[in-house]
Amino acid sequence: MQDTSWPHLGRRSLATALILCLALEGLPSLLSQAAQPAHPDMAAQLVIDPNPGEFRISRHIYGHFAEHLGGCIYGGLWVGEDSEIPNIRGLRTDAIEALRRLNIPNLRWPGGCFADQYHWRDGIGPKAERPKRINVFWGGVIEDNSFGTHEFLDLCELLGTDAYIAGNVGSGTPQEMAEWLEYLTFDGDSAMADLRRENGRQQPWRIPFWGVGNENWGCGGDMRPEYYADVYRNFASYCRSFSGNRMMKVACGSNGPDYRWTEVLMDRAARHMDALSLHYYTVGDSWSHKLPATGFAQDDWFLILRHALRMDEIITITSTIMDRFDPQGRVALFVDEWGTWYQAEPGTNPAFLYQQNTVRDALVAGITLNTFHKHCERVRMANIAQTVNVLQAMLLTRGPEMLLTPTYHVYEMYKVHQDAHLLPFELVTPEYTFGEESIPMLSASASKSDQAIIHVSLCNLDPNRATPIACSLQGNTIQTATGRVLSGDSIDAHNSFEEPNRVEPRPLEGIRIEGDTLWVTLPAHSVALLTIQND
Ligand code: AHR
Repeated sequence: MQDTSWPHLGRRSLATALILCLALEGLPSLLSQAAQPAHPDMAAQLVIDPNPGEFRISRHIYGHFAEHLGGCIYGGLWVGEDSEIPNIRGLRTDAIEALRRLNIPNLRWPGGCFADQYHWRDGIGPKAERPKRINVFWGGVIEDNSFGTHEFLDLCELLGTDAYIAGNVGSGTPQEMAEWLEYLTFDGDSAMADLRRENGRQQPWRIPFWGVGNENWGCGGDMRPEYYADVYRNFASYCRSFSGNRMMKVACGSNGPDYRWTEVLMDRAARHMDALSLHYYTVGDSWSHKLPATGFAQDDWFLILRHALRMDEIITITSTIMDRFDPQGRVALFVDEWGTWYQAEPGTNPAFLYQQNTVRDALVAGITLNTFHKHCERVRMANIAQTVNVLQAMLLTRGPEMLLTPTYHVYEMYKVHQDAHLLPFELVTPEYTFGEESIPMLSASASKSDQAIIHVSLCNLDPNRATPIACSLQGNTIQTATGRVLSGDSIDAHNSFEEPNRVEPRPLEGIRIEGDTLWVTLPAHSVALLTIQND
Protein backbone atom coordinates (compact mmCIF):
# COMPACT_ATOMS: atom_id res chain seq x y z
CA MET A 1 0.00 0.00 0.00
CA GLN A 2 1.15 3.53 -0.65
CA ASP A 3 -0.16 6.57 1.05
CA THR A 4 -0.48 9.50 -1.30
CA SER A 5 -2.46 11.82 0.91
CA TRP A 6 -2.47 15.50 0.11
CA PRO A 7 -3.73 17.38 3.13
CA HIS A 8 -3.46 21.11 3.30
CA LEU A 9 -0.02 22.10 4.34
CA GLY A 10 0.04 25.87 4.04
CA ARG A 11 3.37 26.97 2.53
CA ARG A 12 5.00 23.73 1.50
CA SER A 13 8.64 22.81 1.80
CA LEU A 14 10.69 19.68 1.68
CA ALA A 15 10.83 19.73 5.46
CA THR A 16 7.06 19.89 5.81
CA ALA A 17 6.71 17.16 3.21
CA LEU A 18 8.92 14.99 5.35
CA ILE A 19 6.90 15.75 8.46
CA LEU A 20 3.78 14.84 6.52
CA CYS A 21 5.21 11.46 5.58
CA LEU A 22 5.95 10.77 9.24
CA ALA A 23 2.58 11.99 10.39
CA LEU A 24 0.79 9.70 7.99
CA GLU A 25 2.08 6.66 9.77
CA GLY A 26 -0.92 7.13 12.05
CA LEU A 27 -3.33 7.11 9.13
CA PRO A 28 -4.69 3.55 9.37
CA SER A 29 -6.22 4.36 12.75
CA LEU A 30 -7.98 7.38 11.28
CA LEU A 31 -9.24 5.28 8.42
CA SER A 32 -10.43 2.50 10.68
CA GLN A 33 -12.71 5.06 12.34
CA ALA A 34 -13.78 6.84 9.19
CA ALA A 35 -13.89 4.30 6.37
CA GLN A 36 -14.58 0.77 7.43
CA PRO A 37 -13.95 -1.50 4.46
CA ALA A 38 -17.16 -3.16 3.31
CA HIS A 39 -15.47 -6.45 2.60
CA PRO A 40 -12.02 -7.94 2.99
CA ASP A 41 -11.00 -7.22 -0.61
CA MET A 42 -11.47 -3.50 -0.07
CA ALA A 43 -8.24 -2.21 -1.51
CA ALA A 44 -8.37 1.56 -1.51
CA GLN A 45 -9.63 4.08 0.99
CA LEU A 46 -10.19 7.79 0.59
CA VAL A 47 -11.09 9.95 3.57
CA ILE A 48 -12.19 13.47 2.64
CA ASP A 49 -12.53 16.37 5.02
CA PRO A 50 -15.63 18.17 3.68
CA ASN A 51 -14.59 21.44 5.33
CA PRO A 52 -12.67 23.50 2.79
CA GLY A 53 -9.27 24.82 3.69
CA GLU A 54 -7.85 28.13 2.65
CA PHE A 55 -7.31 27.63 -1.07
CA ARG A 56 -9.34 27.53 -4.23
CA ILE A 57 -8.33 25.64 -7.36
CA SER A 58 -7.83 28.49 -9.81
CA ARG A 59 -9.88 27.98 -12.95
CA HIS A 60 -6.76 29.08 -14.83
CA ILE A 61 -5.21 25.67 -14.15
CA TYR A 62 -7.58 24.58 -16.93
CA GLY A 63 -5.93 26.87 -19.49
CA HIS A 64 -5.03 26.02 -23.09
CA PHE A 65 -2.38 26.86 -25.63
CA ALA A 66 -2.62 27.48 -29.37
CA GLU A 67 0.56 28.03 -31.36
CA HIS A 68 1.22 28.69 -35.01
CA LEU A 69 2.35 25.10 -35.38
CA GLY A 70 1.13 22.40 -37.74
CA GLY A 71 -2.66 22.24 -37.80
CA CYS A 72 -3.39 23.99 -34.52
CA ILE A 73 -4.23 27.47 -35.79
CA TYR A 74 -4.52 26.88 -39.55
CA GLY A 75 -7.10 24.18 -40.24
CA GLY A 76 -7.75 23.48 -36.56
CA LEU A 77 -9.13 26.79 -35.34
CA TRP A 78 -8.91 29.09 -38.34
CA VAL A 79 -10.19 28.18 -41.80
CA GLY A 80 -10.81 31.69 -43.17
CA GLU A 81 -14.04 33.47 -43.99
CA ASP A 82 -14.29 31.91 -47.47
CA SER A 83 -13.96 28.30 -46.33
CA GLU A 84 -16.69 25.75 -47.01
CA ILE A 85 -16.16 24.54 -43.47
CA PRO A 86 -18.79 26.32 -41.36
CA ASN A 87 -17.14 29.23 -39.59
CA ILE A 88 -17.73 32.41 -37.64
CA ARG A 89 -15.64 35.18 -39.20
CA GLY A 90 -13.13 32.51 -40.28
CA LEU A 91 -13.07 30.54 -37.01
CA ARG A 92 -14.32 26.93 -37.14
CA THR A 93 -17.82 26.73 -35.69
CA ASP A 94 -17.48 23.07 -34.59
CA ALA A 95 -14.23 23.76 -32.71
CA ILE A 96 -15.67 26.83 -31.01
CA GLU A 97 -18.79 24.95 -29.93
CA ALA A 98 -16.77 22.03 -28.57
CA LEU A 99 -14.28 24.26 -26.74
CA ARG A 100 -17.02 26.41 -25.23
CA ARG A 101 -18.28 23.30 -23.42
CA LEU A 102 -14.94 23.14 -21.55
CA ASN A 103 -15.28 26.62 -20.00
CA ILE A 104 -11.77 27.43 -21.13
CA PRO A 105 -10.45 30.09 -18.71
CA ASN A 106 -7.50 31.34 -20.77
CA LEU A 107 -5.79 30.73 -24.07
CA ARG A 108 -2.05 31.20 -24.61
CA TRP A 109 -0.87 32.43 -28.03
CA PRO A 110 1.04 32.77 -30.46
CA GLY A 111 3.66 30.34 -29.09
CA GLY A 112 5.69 28.52 -27.95
CA CYS A 113 8.82 28.88 -29.97
CA PHE A 114 6.85 30.78 -32.59
CA ALA A 115 6.36 33.67 -30.14
CA ASP A 116 10.01 34.70 -30.23
CA GLN A 117 10.05 34.96 -34.01
CA TYR A 118 6.67 36.70 -34.25
CA HIS A 119 6.40 40.38 -35.10
CA TRP A 120 2.90 41.50 -34.28
CA ARG A 121 2.65 44.12 -37.02
CA ASP A 122 2.79 41.27 -39.57
CA GLY A 123 -0.63 40.12 -38.36
CA ILE A 124 -2.74 43.30 -38.50
CA GLY A 125 -4.40 45.29 -41.29
CA PRO A 126 -5.81 44.08 -44.62
CA LYS A 127 -5.03 40.38 -45.06
CA ALA A 128 -3.85 40.77 -48.65
CA GLU A 129 -1.16 43.16 -47.46
CA ARG A 130 0.14 41.03 -44.61
CA PRO A 131 3.66 39.74 -45.29
CA LYS A 132 4.46 36.10 -45.78
CA ARG A 133 7.12 34.74 -43.42
CA ILE A 134 8.85 31.42 -42.91
CA ASN A 135 7.79 29.53 -39.80
CA VAL A 136 11.36 28.52 -39.03
CA PHE A 137 10.61 26.42 -35.98
CA TRP A 138 7.79 24.31 -37.33
CA GLY A 139 8.60 22.83 -40.71
CA GLY A 140 9.63 25.98 -42.58
CA VAL A 141 6.08 26.41 -43.87
CA ILE A 142 4.88 29.77 -45.10
CA GLU A 143 3.01 31.79 -42.53
CA ASP A 144 0.65 34.13 -44.34
CA ASN A 145 -0.33 35.94 -41.13
CA SER A 146 -4.03 35.69 -41.94
CA PHE A 147 -4.50 34.86 -38.25
CA GLY A 148 -3.17 37.71 -36.14
CA THR A 149 -4.02 39.87 -33.16
CA HIS A 150 -7.63 40.70 -34.11
CA GLU A 151 -8.43 37.12 -35.11
CA PHE A 152 -6.96 35.72 -31.89
CA LEU A 153 -8.86 38.15 -29.70
CA ASP A 154 -12.05 37.46 -31.67
CA LEU A 155 -11.48 33.76 -30.88
CA CYS A 156 -11.05 34.58 -27.19
CA GLU A 157 -14.28 36.56 -27.18
CA LEU A 158 -16.16 33.74 -28.90
CA LEU A 159 -14.80 31.25 -26.37
CA GLY A 160 -15.42 33.61 -23.44
CA THR A 161 -11.81 33.14 -22.40
CA ASP A 162 -8.99 35.37 -21.14
CA ALA A 163 -6.11 36.15 -23.48
CA TYR A 164 -2.60 35.13 -22.49
CA ILE A 165 -0.18 36.58 -25.05
CA ALA A 166 3.49 35.62 -25.21
CA GLY A 167 5.59 38.56 -26.42
CA ASN A 168 8.74 38.32 -28.51
CA VAL A 169 11.94 38.67 -26.50
CA GLY A 170 14.28 36.44 -28.54
CA SER A 171 14.18 38.47 -31.77
CA GLY A 172 12.10 41.47 -30.73
CA THR A 173 12.75 44.70 -28.89
CA PRO A 174 11.29 46.30 -25.78
CA GLN A 175 9.85 49.01 -28.02
CA GLU A 176 8.06 46.50 -30.27
CA MET A 177 6.55 44.85 -27.21
CA ALA A 178 5.57 48.18 -25.65
CA GLU A 179 3.83 49.27 -28.85
CA TRP A 180 1.89 46.01 -29.10
CA LEU A 181 0.60 46.62 -25.57
CA GLU A 182 -0.33 50.20 -26.45
CA TYR A 183 -2.15 48.92 -29.56
CA LEU A 184 -4.02 46.36 -27.48
CA THR A 185 -4.95 48.29 -24.38
CA PHE A 186 -4.84 52.09 -24.81
CA ASP A 187 -8.19 53.82 -24.91
CA GLY A 188 -6.96 57.35 -25.66
CA ASP A 189 -5.61 59.18 -28.66
CA SER A 190 -2.22 57.73 -29.62
CA ALA A 191 -0.56 56.41 -32.74
CA MET A 192 -0.99 52.77 -31.75
CA ALA A 193 -4.57 53.13 -30.48
CA ASP A 194 -5.47 54.99 -33.68
CA LEU A 195 -3.93 52.22 -35.76
CA ARG A 196 -6.10 49.69 -33.92
CA ARG A 197 -9.18 51.76 -34.67
CA GLU A 198 -8.19 52.00 -38.34
CA ASN A 199 -8.09 48.20 -38.33
CA GLY A 200 -11.66 48.02 -37.09
CA ARG A 201 -11.46 47.78 -33.31
CA GLN A 202 -12.67 50.81 -31.37
CA GLN A 203 -12.42 49.62 -27.79
CA PRO A 204 -9.17 48.32 -26.35
CA TRP A 205 -9.04 44.70 -25.30
CA ARG A 206 -8.51 43.36 -21.81
CA ILE A 207 -5.20 41.47 -21.65
CA PRO A 208 -4.85 39.90 -18.22
CA PHE A 209 -1.71 37.80 -18.86
CA TRP A 210 1.50 38.72 -20.65
CA GLY A 211 4.44 36.39 -21.21
CA VAL A 212 7.84 38.08 -21.51
CA GLY A 213 9.30 35.57 -23.94
CA ASN A 214 9.06 31.80 -24.13
CA GLU A 215 11.68 29.15 -23.41
CA ASN A 216 14.42 31.76 -23.52
CA TRP A 217 16.82 29.04 -22.35
CA GLY A 218 16.22 27.35 -25.74
CA CYS A 219 14.28 28.40 -28.84
CA GLY A 220 13.63 31.86 -27.36
CA GLY A 221 17.23 33.05 -27.61
CA ASP A 222 19.38 30.32 -26.04
CA MET A 223 20.12 32.49 -22.99
CA ARG A 224 21.75 31.72 -19.67
CA PRO A 225 19.56 32.44 -16.62
CA GLU A 226 21.73 35.35 -15.45
CA TYR A 227 21.43 36.99 -18.86
CA TYR A 228 17.70 36.34 -19.24
CA ALA A 229 17.04 37.69 -15.73
CA ASP A 230 18.47 41.03 -16.86
CA VAL A 231 16.76 40.90 -20.26
CA TYR A 232 13.50 40.12 -18.50
CA ARG A 233 13.88 43.12 -16.21
CA ASN A 234 14.65 45.33 -19.19
CA PHE A 235 11.61 44.19 -21.22
CA ALA A 236 9.31 44.09 -18.21
CA SER A 237 10.01 47.72 -17.39
CA TYR A 238 8.53 48.72 -20.76
CA CYS A 239 5.61 46.28 -20.53
CA ARG A 240 2.92 48.76 -19.60
CA SER A 241 -0.72 48.25 -20.24
CA PHE A 242 -3.20 51.10 -20.19
CA SER A 243 -6.72 52.32 -19.55
CA GLY A 244 -7.34 50.23 -16.46
CA ASN A 245 -6.04 46.96 -17.89
CA ARG A 246 -4.54 44.91 -15.05
CA MET A 247 -1.97 42.49 -16.37
CA MET A 248 0.20 39.80 -14.83
CA LYS A 249 3.74 39.72 -16.22
CA VAL A 250 5.05 36.21 -16.63
CA ALA A 251 8.78 35.47 -16.70
CA CYS A 252 10.13 32.47 -18.55
CA GLY A 253 10.71 29.65 -16.09
CA SER A 254 12.63 26.44 -16.18
CA ASN A 255 12.82 23.52 -18.50
CA GLY A 256 11.36 20.94 -16.12
CA PRO A 257 13.82 20.16 -13.33
CA ASP A 258 16.38 22.87 -14.20
CA TYR A 259 16.24 24.24 -10.67
CA ARG A 260 19.23 26.51 -11.16
CA TRP A 261 17.21 28.51 -13.69
CA THR A 262 14.43 28.91 -11.11
CA GLU A 263 16.90 29.93 -8.44
CA VAL A 264 18.62 32.59 -10.55
CA LEU A 265 15.36 34.04 -11.86
CA MET A 266 13.83 34.25 -8.42
CA ASP A 267 16.97 35.73 -6.95
CA ARG A 268 17.44 38.40 -9.58
CA ALA A 269 14.01 39.20 -10.94
CA ALA A 270 11.24 37.96 -8.59
CA ARG A 271 10.13 41.43 -7.59
CA HIS A 272 9.62 42.41 -11.24
CA MET A 273 7.35 39.48 -12.08
CA ASP A 274 3.86 38.32 -11.16
CA ALA A 275 4.39 34.75 -12.27
CA LEU A 276 7.15 32.40 -13.28
CA SER A 277 6.44 29.73 -15.86
CA LEU A 278 7.46 26.08 -15.94
CA HIS A 279 7.45 23.70 -18.91
CA TYR A 280 7.37 19.96 -18.45
CA TYR A 281 6.43 17.46 -21.14
CA THR A 282 5.83 13.75 -20.63
CA VAL A 283 8.02 12.01 -23.18
CA GLY A 284 8.94 8.67 -21.59
CA ASP A 285 12.64 7.92 -21.40
CA SER A 286 14.28 10.49 -23.64
CA TRP A 287 13.71 13.20 -26.20
CA SER A 288 15.77 11.30 -28.74
CA HIS A 289 13.68 8.15 -28.37
CA LYS A 290 10.05 9.21 -28.28
CA LEU A 291 7.34 6.59 -27.93
CA PRO A 292 4.45 5.82 -30.27
CA ALA A 293 1.07 7.34 -29.42
CA THR A 294 -0.85 4.12 -30.13
CA GLY A 295 -0.07 0.43 -30.52
CA PHE A 296 2.03 0.30 -27.35
CA ALA A 297 2.35 -2.40 -24.71
CA GLN A 298 2.35 -2.19 -20.93
CA ASP A 299 6.02 -1.16 -20.67
CA ASP A 300 5.30 2.11 -22.51
CA TRP A 301 2.09 2.61 -20.54
CA PHE A 302 4.03 2.36 -17.29
CA LEU A 303 6.87 4.57 -18.50
CA ILE A 304 4.58 7.39 -19.54
CA LEU A 305 2.52 7.35 -16.34
CA ARG A 306 5.63 7.21 -14.18
CA HIS A 307 7.02 10.16 -16.10
CA ALA A 308 3.77 12.11 -15.73
CA LEU A 309 3.79 11.53 -11.96
CA ARG A 310 7.14 13.34 -11.83
CA MET A 311 5.29 16.63 -12.23
CA ASP A 312 4.57 16.48 -8.50
CA GLU A 313 8.25 16.34 -7.56
CA ILE A 314 9.19 19.10 -10.00
CA ILE A 315 6.50 21.44 -8.72
CA THR A 316 7.34 20.62 -5.09
CA ILE A 317 11.02 21.48 -5.54
CA THR A 318 10.31 24.52 -7.72
CA SER A 319 7.83 25.83 -5.12
CA THR A 320 10.34 25.26 -2.35
CA ILE A 321 12.88 27.40 -4.20
CA MET A 322 10.25 30.06 -4.85
CA ASP A 323 9.30 30.02 -1.16
CA ARG A 324 12.84 31.00 -0.24
CA PHE A 325 12.74 34.17 -2.30
CA ASP A 326 9.02 34.86 -2.02
CA PRO A 327 7.78 33.56 1.33
CA GLN A 328 4.49 35.44 0.94
CA GLY A 329 3.66 33.46 -2.21
CA ARG A 330 3.08 36.59 -4.31
CA VAL A 331 4.68 35.17 -7.46
CA ALA A 332 2.51 32.49 -9.03
CA LEU A 333 3.83 29.40 -10.77
CA PHE A 334 2.32 28.99 -14.25
CA VAL A 335 2.90 25.56 -15.80
CA ASP A 336 2.15 27.08 -19.16
CA GLU A 337 3.24 24.12 -21.29
CA TRP A 338 2.70 20.49 -20.38
CA GLY A 339 1.35 17.28 -21.88
CA THR A 340 2.43 14.14 -23.69
CA TRP A 341 4.87 14.29 -26.58
CA TYR A 342 5.12 11.17 -28.74
CA GLN A 343 6.40 10.23 -32.18
CA ALA A 344 4.38 12.08 -34.82
CA GLU A 345 1.59 10.05 -36.40
CA PRO A 346 3.03 8.00 -39.29
CA GLY A 347 2.50 9.71 -42.63
CA THR A 348 2.32 13.21 -41.13
CA ASN A 349 4.95 15.96 -41.21
CA PRO A 350 7.08 15.30 -38.08
CA ALA A 351 7.46 19.06 -37.57
CA PHE A 352 3.69 19.38 -37.12
CA LEU A 353 3.64 17.29 -33.91
CA TYR A 354 0.35 15.63 -34.80
CA GLN A 355 -0.33 12.64 -32.55
CA GLN A 356 -3.24 10.41 -31.58
CA ASN A 357 -4.67 10.57 -28.09
CA THR A 358 -5.66 7.49 -26.09
CA VAL A 359 -6.92 6.40 -22.70
CA ARG A 360 -3.29 6.73 -21.58
CA ASP A 361 -3.45 10.46 -22.36
CA ALA A 362 -6.67 10.68 -20.36
CA LEU A 363 -4.78 9.21 -17.42
CA VAL A 364 -1.90 11.68 -17.87
CA ALA A 365 -4.41 14.54 -17.94
CA GLY A 366 -6.31 13.25 -14.91
CA ILE A 367 -3.28 12.69 -12.70
CA THR A 368 -1.60 15.94 -13.77
CA LEU A 369 -4.69 18.03 -13.05
CA ASN A 370 -4.97 16.29 -9.65
CA THR A 371 -1.33 17.27 -9.06
CA PHE A 372 -2.01 20.90 -9.98
CA HIS A 373 -4.93 20.96 -7.53
CA LYS A 374 -2.65 19.69 -4.80
CA HIS A 375 -0.29 22.59 -5.44
CA CYS A 376 -2.97 25.20 -6.15
CA GLU A 377 -1.56 27.47 -3.50
CA ARG A 378 1.36 28.26 -5.84
CA VAL A 379 0.22 26.80 -9.18
CA ARG A 380 -2.35 29.30 -10.38
CA MET A 381 -2.25 28.61 -14.09
CA ALA A 382 -1.46 25.71 -16.41
CA ASN A 383 -1.77 25.34 -20.17
CA ILE A 384 -1.91 21.96 -21.81
CA ALA A 385 -0.15 21.74 -25.18
CA GLN A 386 -2.00 22.18 -27.50
CA THR A 387 -5.66 22.82 -28.25
CA VAL A 388 -6.13 21.27 -31.69
CA ASN A 389 -4.08 18.79 -33.78
CA VAL A 390 -0.80 19.30 -31.88
CA LEU A 391 0.62 17.12 -29.07
CA GLN A 392 -1.95 16.28 -26.36
CA ALA A 393 -4.84 17.93 -28.13
CA MET A 394 -8.47 18.38 -27.16
CA LEU A 395 -9.65 18.15 -30.75
CA LEU A 396 -8.41 16.48 -33.92
CA THR A 397 -9.60 17.64 -37.31
CA ARG A 398 -9.47 16.19 -40.82
CA GLY A 399 -10.79 18.70 -43.33
CA PRO A 400 -14.36 19.37 -42.26
CA GLU A 401 -14.41 16.51 -39.74
CA MET A 402 -13.60 16.93 -36.06
CA LEU A 403 -13.40 14.56 -33.11
CA LEU A 404 -13.10 14.91 -29.35
CA THR A 405 -10.12 13.16 -27.78
CA PRO A 406 -10.07 11.28 -24.45
CA THR A 407 -8.15 14.26 -23.02
CA TYR A 408 -11.04 16.54 -24.05
CA HIS A 409 -13.40 14.34 -22.05
CA VAL A 410 -11.21 14.58 -18.94
CA TYR A 411 -11.32 18.39 -19.21
CA GLU A 412 -15.07 18.28 -19.62
CA MET A 413 -15.49 15.98 -16.59
CA TYR A 414 -13.05 17.90 -14.39
CA LYS A 415 -14.32 21.41 -15.20
CA VAL A 416 -16.42 21.30 -12.01
CA HIS A 417 -13.17 21.79 -10.05
CA GLN A 418 -12.62 25.23 -11.60
CA ASP A 419 -12.51 27.85 -8.83
CA ALA A 420 -13.81 25.31 -6.31
CA HIS A 421 -12.41 25.01 -2.77
CA LEU A 422 -9.71 22.38 -2.44
CA LEU A 423 -10.65 19.73 0.11
CA PRO A 424 -8.01 17.98 2.20
CA PHE A 425 -8.04 14.19 1.98
CA GLU A 426 -6.11 11.10 2.84
CA LEU A 427 -5.76 8.30 0.33
CA VAL A 428 -4.51 4.79 0.94
CA THR A 429 -3.89 3.18 -2.42
CA PRO A 430 -2.58 -0.17 -3.55
CA GLU A 431 0.47 -0.11 -5.78
CA TYR A 432 0.64 -0.79 -9.46
CA THR A 433 3.78 -2.84 -10.03
CA PHE A 434 5.37 -3.48 -13.38
CA GLY A 435 8.61 -5.43 -13.45
CA GLU A 436 10.77 -4.18 -10.62
CA GLU A 437 9.02 -0.86 -10.22
CA SER A 438 5.88 0.37 -8.51
CA ILE A 439 3.79 3.52 -8.67
CA PRO A 440 0.56 4.32 -6.81
CA MET A 441 -2.43 2.64 -8.41
CA LEU A 442 -4.69 5.60 -7.67
CA SER A 443 -4.54 9.36 -7.95
CA ALA A 444 -7.27 11.53 -6.43
CA SER A 445 -8.43 15.07 -5.81
CA ALA A 446 -11.47 16.58 -4.10
CA SER A 447 -13.12 19.99 -4.14
CA LYS A 448 -16.28 21.71 -2.95
CA SER A 449 -18.22 24.15 -5.09
CA ASP A 450 -19.85 27.35 -3.85
CA GLN A 451 -23.11 25.38 -3.98
CA ALA A 452 -21.58 22.91 -1.46
CA ILE A 453 -21.36 20.06 -3.96
CA ILE A 454 -18.32 17.83 -3.52
CA HIS A 455 -16.48 16.56 -6.58
CA VAL A 456 -13.91 13.80 -6.42
CA SER A 457 -11.67 12.95 -9.35
CA LEU A 458 -10.10 9.51 -9.35
CA CYS A 459 -7.64 7.84 -11.71
CA ASN A 460 -6.85 4.14 -11.80
CA LEU A 461 -3.38 3.82 -13.33
CA ASP A 462 -3.38 0.02 -13.32
CA PRO A 463 -4.08 -1.25 -16.84
CA ASN A 464 -5.21 -4.67 -15.60
CA ARG A 465 -7.02 -4.39 -12.28
CA ALA A 466 -10.24 -2.74 -11.24
CA THR A 467 -10.28 -1.66 -7.62
CA PRO A 468 -13.01 -1.21 -5.06
CA ILE A 469 -12.68 2.06 -3.19
CA ALA A 470 -14.32 3.32 -0.03
CA CYS A 471 -14.77 7.06 0.07
CA SER A 472 -15.74 8.61 3.39
CA LEU A 473 -16.74 12.12 4.45
CA GLN A 474 -15.64 11.80 8.06
CA GLY A 475 -19.02 11.54 9.78
CA ASN A 476 -20.98 13.70 7.30
CA THR A 477 -23.90 11.72 5.93
CA ILE A 478 -23.90 11.37 2.17
CA GLN A 479 -27.28 12.14 0.62
CA THR A 480 -26.64 11.43 -3.05
CA ALA A 481 -23.67 10.34 -5.15
CA THR A 482 -23.35 9.87 -8.88
CA GLY A 483 -20.37 9.20 -11.07
CA ARG A 484 -19.00 9.28 -14.60
CA VAL A 485 -16.12 7.24 -15.86
CA LEU A 486 -13.87 7.34 -18.92
CA SER A 487 -12.12 4.17 -19.98
CA GLY A 488 -11.74 2.03 -23.09
CA ASP A 489 -11.64 -1.53 -24.32
CA SER A 490 -7.83 -1.44 -24.46
CA ILE A 491 -5.03 0.70 -23.04
CA ASP A 492 -4.55 2.45 -26.36
CA ALA A 493 -8.27 2.90 -27.09
CA HIS A 494 -8.79 6.18 -28.93
CA ASN A 495 -11.25 8.04 -31.11
CA SER A 496 -10.70 8.01 -34.85
CA PHE A 497 -12.61 9.62 -37.68
CA GLU A 498 -14.04 6.18 -38.43
CA GLU A 499 -15.00 5.56 -34.79
CA PRO A 500 -15.21 9.00 -33.13
CA ASN A 501 -17.12 7.94 -30.01
CA ARG A 502 -15.17 4.86 -28.97
CA VAL A 503 -13.83 6.56 -25.83
CA GLU A 504 -16.31 8.80 -24.05
CA PRO A 505 -17.59 9.16 -20.49
CA ARG A 506 -20.27 6.79 -19.27
CA PRO A 507 -22.23 6.62 -16.02
CA LEU A 508 -20.26 4.95 -13.23
CA GLU A 509 -22.61 2.22 -12.06
CA GLY A 510 -22.81 0.46 -8.72
CA ILE A 511 -22.24 3.31 -6.25
CA ARG A 512 -23.48 2.25 -2.81
CA ILE A 513 -23.98 4.73 0.03
CA GLU A 514 -23.99 3.91 3.73
CA GLY A 515 -23.96 6.82 6.15
CA ASP A 516 -20.83 8.87 5.58
CA THR A 517 -19.24 6.39 3.15
CA LEU A 518 -19.73 5.38 -0.45
CA TRP A 519 -18.33 2.31 -2.14
CA VAL A 520 -17.61 2.10 -5.79
CA THR A 521 -15.42 0.02 -8.10
CA LEU A 522 -13.04 1.91 -10.34
CA PRO A 523 -12.40 0.03 -13.62
CA ALA A 524 -8.87 -0.67 -14.80
CA HIS A 525 -7.24 2.20 -16.76
CA SER A 526 -9.94 4.73 -16.04
CA VAL A 527 -10.61 8.31 -14.97
CA ALA A 528 -13.74 8.96 -12.89
CA LEU A 529 -15.56 11.93 -11.44
CA LEU A 530 -17.90 11.56 -8.45
CA THR A 531 -20.52 14.18 -7.55
CA ILE A 532 -21.55 14.02 -3.90
CA GLN A 533 -24.08 15.89 -1.83
CA ASN A 534 -23.95 15.59 1.91
CA ASP A 535 -25.94 16.90 4.87
O1 AHR B 1 4.46 22.98 -27.71
C1 AHR B 1 5.46 22.78 -28.65
C2 AHR B 1 6.76 23.48 -28.28
O2 AHR B 1 7.27 22.95 -27.11
C3 AHR B 1 6.66 24.95 -27.98
O3 AHR B 1 6.70 25.72 -29.13
C4 AHR B 1 7.88 25.21 -27.15
O4 AHR B 1 7.70 26.27 -26.25
C5 AHR B 1 8.11 23.87 -26.47
O5 AHR B 1 9.42 23.46 -26.59
